Amino acid sequence: SLYDFGMIGLGVMGRNLLLNMADHGFSVIGFDKDAAKNAALESAATPGTTVKGVAELAAMVQLLERPRKLMMLVPAGQPVDDVIASLVPLLEKGDVVIDGGNSHYTDTLRRVQYLREKGIHFMGMGVSGGEQGARTGPSIMPGGDLDAYAKVKPMLEAIAAKVKDTPCVAYLGKEGAGHYVKMVHNGIEYAIMQLISESYALLQKGAGLNNDQLHEIFKNWNNGVLQSFLVEITADIFTQKDDKTPAHLIDVISDKAGSKGTGKWTSQDAMELPVAVPVIDTAVAMRTISGYKEQRLEAEKLYTAPDATIHADTEMWIKQVHDALYFATILSYAQGLAMLHEASHDLKMEIPLPEVVKVWRGGCIIRSSLLEVFMQAYQQNADLANILLDKGVAYLVQSVEANTRSVVAQAAQAGIQAAGFMSALSYFDAFRTGRMATNLIQAQRDYFGAHTYQRTDIPGTFHTEWQQQ
Ligand code: 6PG
Repeated sequence: SLYDFGMIGLGVMGRNLLLNMADHGFSVIGFDKDAAKNAALESAATPGTTVKGVAELAAMVQLLERPRKLMMLVPAGQPVDDVIASLVPLLEKGDVVIDGGNSHYTDTLRRVQYLREKGIHFMGMGVSGGEQGARTGPSIMPGGDLDAYAKVKPMLEAIAAKVKDTPCVAYLGKEGAGHYVKMVHNGIEYAIMQLISESYALLQKGAGLNNDQLHEIFKNWNNGVLQSFLVEITADIFTQKDDKTPAHLIDVISDKAGSKGTGKWTSQDAMELPVAVPVIDTAVAMRTISGYKEQRLEAEKLYTAPDATIHADTEMWIKQVHDALYFATILSYAQGLAMLHEASHDLKMEIPLPEVVKVWRGGCIIRSSLLEVFMQAYQQNADLANILLDKGVAYLVQSVEANTRSVVAQAAQAGIQAAGFMSALSYFDAFRTGRMATNLIQAQRDYFGAHTYQRTDIPGTFHTEWQQQ
């Protein structure tokens, strides 16, 4: 008999998604050139489920129920095009092909159009939650052809994470929207990770707290308004012992941070739109600076550092850092969601923001209790340009604003890098200011380049012959 669903690429993500699907009663088949991966798939299957691995793509395609439903999970870029090239001669009109990797949305757009001409539905789909999420319930961000989504919806809903019985998957817009939403998800992921690492520095370098204390702090935070996957795993990280030395593992991990590019894409695309996402930009930049290891060590000798001690009551300091993290985390989501709002209109993707935050509530890396707050905001106004304009969100932001200012000021005094916090606060201060100082920039542009300006009192475009003194 024929199989319900096929997977191309049986790396750990592909394998886990397929096993998850099989656990929900679907018969599944996977293809990988590597016979060892096919064997690994079959041997990991839950007894009683229907799971098969094959080493020939054509064999897999033959064995799929029509219209075929298949997904690829291969590295982004050329490998996706290679898979498409080998698939096209094997498929028929009406088949659905899903790219579940972290592809750039412009590639997805191109592939959707190319395959549409051949009558094949191509969907770009973000999958978040890492290896464990894929196995037990990821957050799934599909976009593209709505008819194609209808064909795979039952399977995606079955395997997705659930929040109060609601599956964390929804149709998130046209064309490349699925990968667009995943890209912005990753931008927010970068921002929040940066903010958590700054909190770590402020508590460790500023207040001299050790790993055991840090574990307790993050554990407590995860029981309150900061409840989130990233805060939760941070608490765990501080308890992990090294298996090679007596140290805590965190203390022997190099500070050079890696990146695969999705955070950078978010910043690049935000500039392109344009929309301002400075906390995400800062997070990308700090990972880059983390790579300047040699130069930083040299500079550390050259520049005398200020005294990094934070002269505040420790309990109070912990509370202030908590509040700053809450503030800047809200700002990170605000910037990412504003970007989606703008891109949705600008690129005609029709991204439903209320659905995006609903899908992000479970399974994904940026899941947090804050998303419930944002859901309420979008219930009030589904087309909210920026969640900072919601009264409920404004109330929360204002409740932690003073402590955020205090943390930023003290971090600056102590010379502890807190660029994410500072950037969040600066964005907020600009955003809540009815009249910025950018009138001066307009005057300068007109002065040196006759770029013209608008006035506050009289409509029209003006140019002045500026007088040199
Ligand atoms: C997820 C993650 C996942 C991956 C990141 C890592 O949502 O499950 O975002 O997609 O871990 O791409 O990105 P960097 O290697 O760039 O940090």
